[in-house]
Amino acid sequence: MSLAINHLLGLQNVSKNDIQLILDTAVTFREVLDRPIKKVPTLKGTTVVNLFYENSTRTRLSFELAEKRLSADTLNFSTSTSSTKKGETFKDTVRNIEAMKIDMIIVRHKSAGVPLYLTKISNASIINAGDGQHEHPTQALLDMYSIREKLGKLKGLKICIVGDIRHSRVALSNIYGLKTMGAEVSVCAPPTMIPKNLETFGVKVYTDIHKATRENDVLNVLRIQLERNAGSSIPSLREYHNYFGITSEVIEKNNKDILILHPGPINRGVEMSSEVADGPYQIILDQVTNGVAIRMAVLYLLGTKN
Ligand code: CP
Repeated sequence: MSLAINHLLGLQNVSKNDIQLILDTAVTFREVLDRPIKKVPTLKGTTVVNLFYENSTRTRLSFELAEKRLSADTLNFSTSTSSTKKGETFKDTVRNIEAMKIDMIIVRHKSAGVPLYLTKISNASIINAGDGQHEHPTQALLDMYSIREKLGKLKGLKICIVGDIRHSRVALSNIYGLKTMGAEVSVCAPPTMIPKNLETFGVKVYTDIHKATRENDVLNVLRIQLERNAGSSIPSLREYHNYFGITSEVIEKNNKDILILHPGPINRGVEMSSEVADGPYQIILDQVTNGVAIRMAVLYLLGTKN
């Protein structure tokens, strides 16, 4: 079996078969991560560049670890120590890296569309690690994997994405991927944090966190993205927490079977209390572990195509 796609730019146009193949392949790699020797020779001889123009902890480190676990050669590009600081353009940077004979590029950038642009100027296989407010496909894949691992399925599950939907690439990739896999997707947020065209995605909208918690199987809770000016959409972080924050009281009053996800990094005391972030309803660190397996699966499936 092989993927129909040559690059992973987003989940908007990725088929159910391709998503299923990535999730199923990740199961095998997840088992590798529990072995005493957590390494396979699958991508020996393949060179992968991690091109991160924006801050990251989870995505950058888990891609790098996934590459090492697959025995690929890894190059890490950092804007702060590169010739970008001397004025070199993005295109010149990429063409110079490409001249070193690399095979795959993992890219994170503050501008939406940069991964697509890379496919036009490079012969490498491109994986989007988050582009502006557009998509973050491997995050949505690891979220889907983690839900399926815990609840056994995606089809028919009621999954609500809570928080700053308007600024979130994680929300968009989750909406595309979950709907393709047959889940019932909704969002819950203040009206100022919901994009105006959301109904066109076939997504139910809640503005009451109690109702959303009662009526769903899963809450995927997003970070308030202060660096993208999300603070201007709400009166204050304290008020946001009072009306939309996930607390033990919200869970215990409405739905003790709820499963809580968060892509990280968490603003503790804003979108979620510390008690919930560290408590029995969440699988936040399982998501991080599964992220390595998902990224191994995507690297393997794209890196061994042809
Ligand atoms: N979830 C996520 O993308 O986290 P990082 O920004 O730390 O990579």
